[in-house]
Amino acid sequence: MKTSHLILAYGTADLVSAAALTRRLDNGLGLTPSMGWSGWNVAQCNSASEKYALETANAFVSLGLKDLGYQYINIDDCWTVKSGRDANGNLVPDPNKWPRGIKAVADEIHGLGLKFGLYGCAGKLTCAGYPGSEGHEQQDARSLASWDVDFWKYDNCYTPCKTGGDDVQVCSSPDPSTKVWYGAMRDALLDVKTTHDILFNMCSWGVEQVWQWGKTYGNSWRIDNDNWQDWASVQRIGSKAAGISQYSAPGGFNDLDMLIVGNGVLTEPQERLHFGLWAIAKSPLILGTDMTKIPSSTLAIVSNKGIIDINQDSLGVAATTFQPPGAPAPVSGQIYTYWAGPLSDGVAVGLTSVGSAKTVSVNFADVPGLGKGSWTWKEMYSGKTGTGESVSFDLAEDDMAVLKVTSASK
Ligand code: GAL
Repeated sequence: MKTSHLILAYGTADLVSAAALTRRLDNGLGLTPSMGWSGWNVAQCNSASEKYALETANAFVSLGLKDLGYQYINIDDCWTVKSGRDANGNLVPDPNKWPRGIKAVADEIHGLGLKFGLYGCAGKLTCAGYPGSEGHEQQDARSLASWDVDFWKYDNCYTPCKTGGDDVQVCSSPDPSTKVWYGAMRDALLDVKTTHDILFNMCSWGVEQVWQWGKTYGNSWRIDNDNWQDWASVQRIGSKAAGISQYSAPGGFNDLDMLIVGNGVLTEPQERLHFGLWAIAKSPLILGTDMTKIPSSTLAIVSNKGIIDINQDSLGVAATTFQPPGAPAPVSGQIYTYWAGPLSDGVAVGLTSVGSAKTVSVNFADVPGLGKGSWTWKEMYSGKTGTGESVSFDLAEDDMAVLKVTSASK
């Protein structure tokens, strides 16, 4: 569609967003989902400090996570002073949390072979009430560049809203569109001179069906509200991902939100399902636990190389649900049993057991991308392998089997 038609279709009130649509995010980043850590699920505002950033970076190295591909150490809300910007309008890192400033920490993290991320917000304030970037997009992009930041999560609180101006913390009717402020920050990041490319992570909680247009604006976009620390959130977000899997591709992925594994709120099978589903759905894999205290069972789950390889497969296609003949239909809001998605060298298959322990079986002939005949498979959590026309697993309640299936000759 030509720009002039686009403007007519949008109406004059949305000229800015129509113009923004003509620019495509072409930063060469995020060809596979990002992997790393965020402090938010650990201790909210309290984890936005040098101490947490460096402890986590060192843990990534010593626990072997860096070698598995986890690289981003991301600080979330509350890293600046709350009272406001400095006399020149710059964001000011809280000196109590960042006694050496941001760049010294980013440098140290780069020295470990890792990357460093920060959080900002498109509105007047961040969600926790710290200074937001509205009207300061270019200036903030310059600050990030001067500190060699690699990742920018951009939230959606206190943004212009049809009901309540800029003063509503969470707005369901943006004025005129979240595209305006996500476009402004994207352009600022594209235009600033950096020595470190900045991955752009949009956090607008699925507002305005961001998955339909997010790839022209960012490298990933949150599809829903937060992954609160409970199993219900995992089900809410995981089931939603099935219906919008087609929007993920190299350069831009559905973001199912930070993982809540390791925090004592899920059973071990639920942690397997949570990690496995986020991985095959090609979500960023952002750990949200205190890495100095991560339980060994959780560490084993998030270190599963076979599952990480599925997540990082170069094809970048997200798995979705399929219904084998005779199986009950998916139920909205519940994680379905059968999942599959293509890989560059096979097919990823996920089998889940939400609600009760059960035996889950599937004929490969019924799996999209496979077909009649014999297939070779490997289940990544158990390490079991086999060749045949079907598989069957005895799963605990809320558990998951994650398979890679290849042609029998491989
Ligand atoms: C929310 C966001 C969370 C976290 C929090 C910080 O809007 O969804 O992931 O960043 O703000 O205040």
